[in-house]
This record gives sequence, structure tokens and C-alpha cells, in this order.
Amino acid sequence: MIAIISAMQEEIQALLNKLQNVSTIEKGMRTYYVGTLFNKKVVLVFSRWGKVAAAATTTQLINDFDLDEIIFTGVAGGIHPNLNIGDIVIGKDLFQHDLNASPFYKRFEIPIIKKLFLETKNPDSLIAATTIFLQNYHCYVKLNDAQIFDITKPKLVFGDIASGDQFISSLKKIAKLNKQIPSAICVEMEGAAVAQICYEYEMPFSIIRIISDKANDNATIDFSKFSNTIASNYALGILENYFA
Ligand code: ADE
Repeated sequence: MIAIISAMQEEIQALLNKLQNVSTIEKGMRTYYVGTLFNKKVVLVFSRWGKVAAAATTTQLINDFDLDEIIFTGVAGGIHPNLNIGDIVIGKDLFQHDLNASPFYKRFEIPIIKKLFLETKNPDSLIAATTIFLQNYHCYVKLNDAQIFDITKPKLVFGDIASGDQFISSLKKIAKLNKQIPSAICVEMEGAAVAQICYEYEMPFSIIRIISDKANDNATIDFSKFSNTIASNYALGILENYFA
């Protein structure tokens, strides 16, 4: 069984609409939707925002379901100048940008685990599926919606992600992050928490992030508009190819 997590219902709604033979399990104020998606047995859940919520949901999934892998899909703020709204980031190394237990541990070091970041493994088939999705992108995303965000030719980048319990909407904060974690190309609030739990339980995982905003002054407006319209159609298109 494959678990699919999003932080918000909006990011997963198109998948829920396609889910068949659905049964639900309520636990810890979350609903786990079990069913079949594109002929694969899946469990869908929205974790709610932030690292604690994502870590708790991931742990619950691993303990209660017979999982082969976990896929997190959601939106992110682009902090690399070449990333535009509508581009897709598949996570490589996951950093917790708000983790700082110095002087006991190095900046960003996860205590005991002794790592500054956690990496995803075997992204090749997800990258291949996402590449096919981008070739057929207009089948999933309405032209009108794409035009709102000026999305013409969205691209895929396999790159590093910085997660933290903060919504980033300032150029000053972006500059700080660029300096602290130069390889990070986007920011979000859950990925590195999922990565840590999956590392600890030896569970394969992937992080898919669609750029909803550029983490600047306009971020709150872009983020809300993008999440409500396009985000989950991307997830649907990518996963349809991934499961094929
Ligand atoms: N998720 C989407 N956009 C984000 C941003 N600007 N900061 C943090 N998380 C996000």
C-alpha cells in the first residue's frame, strides 16, 4: 500500500475525488481515506500544517498501515530565482531550516541522527512520471487557471528543500535562507519532518512540491489562489503516471 500525504485538503482533493472503494479511519483528529487510486491500494490523509503535524501523521501511517512507501505532495514557495509558479520540485535533500540546537549540535544538525539533512532515495521513477506529466500538463490543468499564474512551460527540478514552522513571505528571509542553506531551492513546512520519521523507520519516501508562490510579499495571495485551484490537479497527473 502507498500512503499519500498533503498538508491541506485542497492539495489532495483531486485525488480524493478519484479514489474508489473508499473506507475511512478516524485517528488523532485526522481522517485516513483508504481505497484504490489508478488500480493501486492507497491511503490518503491530510496531515495539517507544520512539522509536528506531519511527523505525527507519518508515524501513525507507518504503524497502522502496511506501507511500501510514502509520498508527500503539496505546494512550496520558490526561493531560487529560476523557479516560477507552476514549476515542480522533487525533493533531494531535506533540511529543517528552523532547527538550531547549537552550541550542543551544529546548526541544522538533527540530534542523535547526526545529519544536517536527510536525502530521498531512488527518485528515478517519480522523475520519469513527472516528466511525462509535464508533457501532458494541459490535460490536467485548465488553460484559464494556468493563465492566472502566467504558467506557460512548467519545469521539473530535482533539488533541495528547506522545511520549517514558518510561512515565508519576505525577501529578507529568503536572502538569509539562501546564505544559510545555499542548495535549498524552495521552502515549505512539512517535508523534512516526514523525511526524519521515514529515515527512523526505514520507510522509502518522496516529496513532491509544486511552486505556488515565490515566498515574497505576494506569497500569501499566490499561495491561497494556487492551492485552491491548481495544486491537486498536479498531484493527480503526476501520480497517474507514477502508478501506471
Ligand atoms: N508553502 C507554500 N508556500 C510557502 C511559503 N512561502 N513558506 C512556507 N511554506 C510554503
